[in-house]
This record gives sequence, C-alpha cells and structure tokens, in this order.
Amino acid sequence: MRKPMVAGNWKMNKTVADAVTLVNELLPELKAQTAVDRVLCPPFTALYSVSGLLKDSGIGCGAQDLFWEAKGAFTGEVAPDMVAELGKYVIIGHSERRTYFGETDESVNKKVLAALAAGLTPIVCVGETLEENQGGKTEAVVTRQVNAGLSGISAADAEKIVIAYEPVWAIGTGLAATGPDANKVIAEYIRKPYAALYGEAAAQAIRVLYGGSVKGSNAAEFFGQPDIDGALVGGASLKKADFMEIVNAAAK
Ligand code: 13P
Repeated sequence: MRKPMVAGNWKMNKTVADAVTLVNELLPELKAQTAVDRVLCPPFTALYSVSGLLKDSGIGCGAQDLFWEAKGAFTGEVAPDMVAELGKYVIIGHSERRTYFGETDESVNKKVLAALAAGLTPIVCVGETLEENQGGKTEAVVTRQVNAGLSGISAADAEKIVIAYEPVWAIGTGLAATGPDANKVIAEYIRKPYAALYGEAAAQAIRVLYGGSVKGSNAAEFFGQPDIDGALVGGASLKKADFMEIVNAAAK
C-alpha cells in the first residue's frame, strides 16, 4: 500500500509574510489529515520561516530546486545541505526549469544524485509538451526522462524517489489530463521503465504523483486511478481552501 502524497509547489509566489500567513491558516486542518503525506514547497526566501512553522507538525517542507555542488563560487545557487537543513524534500526537473532555465536530463540527474546524497527525497518531474503529445512522442519523452533522471542511482536510493508526471500542456492552463490518460502514462511509461531498472516490486512501491491543473473539483478523478498516488499542485496550493480540498480528496 502506497501512502498518498499531496505536495504544494508554490512556485515564485508568497513573500515571507504571505507564506507565514498561509501556513498558519493551513496548519490546524493540514496537521489533522494524517492519512496523507503533506508537503509544502515555498520559494527559497520563505523556506526558513516555513520550515520553522512546520517543525514537529508532521508536514514536510521542501525546496523547488537545488544545485548539485556542495559549496563554492556558484552565485545565486543553493546547495543540497542548505536545503536539507530546512526541509526533507526537493522538486527537481520541473518543466518550468527545463523550459526557462536550461534544465536538461543530465542536470536533472546530477541534482537527483546530489539530493539523495544529502538525505533529501527528490520529487522528480517528467512530462511531455503539447507538441510532443500531439506528435505521438509521449512515451519516448517520458521514458527518456525517467531513464536519464535515474541514471546511476542505486536500487536502495531509487526507492526513496517520488516521481511527478506533469504534462507540460496541463500546467497552469486549467486543462488537466483525464484520470485514465494520466494513469496510462504513469503505469506504462513511468513504472515500466522503472521496473526494467529496479524490478517490478520496486516499481509498485514508489509513489508517482500527477500534476497539472489539479483542483478540488478534479482531484478525485486522479486519486481514483490505481497508479496515481497523489498530486503535485501549483495554483491551487496557494489558497487554504483550495489546497485542503485536494488533500482531503487524497485521504478518501
Ligand atoms: P498548476 O497546478 O498550477 O497547473 O501547476 C502544476 C505544477 O506545475 C506543479 O508543480
């Protein structure tokens, strides 16, 4: 049995003051919903404050990226240990980083390795663009991203990874995938290549989330699918009521 997980990716939203307000609003209800692994990923600037508020709450805290080097002259970057001091999770390879910031399969892999070495749980994002989807390339792209992202990772470490399937065309567009379509990609193009690397039992044990326009009204459609273990939520994670609706749907 895989425990459901709902992670909020706040992206580039919330000042420290706004982040503190949202966490304080969320805390009572979010804390009580222990049937779901709950994770909040604020921007770096709010990570310290949010992690302090979440301490001993049972709610996880995570970053939205990291750099693979341990320290040194890398202006603007944040090292794995710096994230690990404040959180347990880190989102890696989000499509917005791949699209706007030159993230590649190779850099994703380096970041996953570095995150695992620092004791973090990587939430590795994969997903095809609209063009790739319409060109019938979903299988090739997603399988390639899974294989490349996990390259050189031991079986023991691979078990700790969470994968998020986020079709790029569904992110922030209001146009979500259907539950069955997302389930098919996860079962066929994520768990299958993972099983080829680490075995069927391991592929059935890891958690795979869906992300892309998840909201209270469609969350149950995804959580009702056999291969979908939760959600990585963008826009709907920025308001207490919207986020709680999704977390509560995952508990059912
Ligand atoms: P939206 O939920 O805003 O579509 O964003 C999804 C996402 O990118 C989460 O990482």
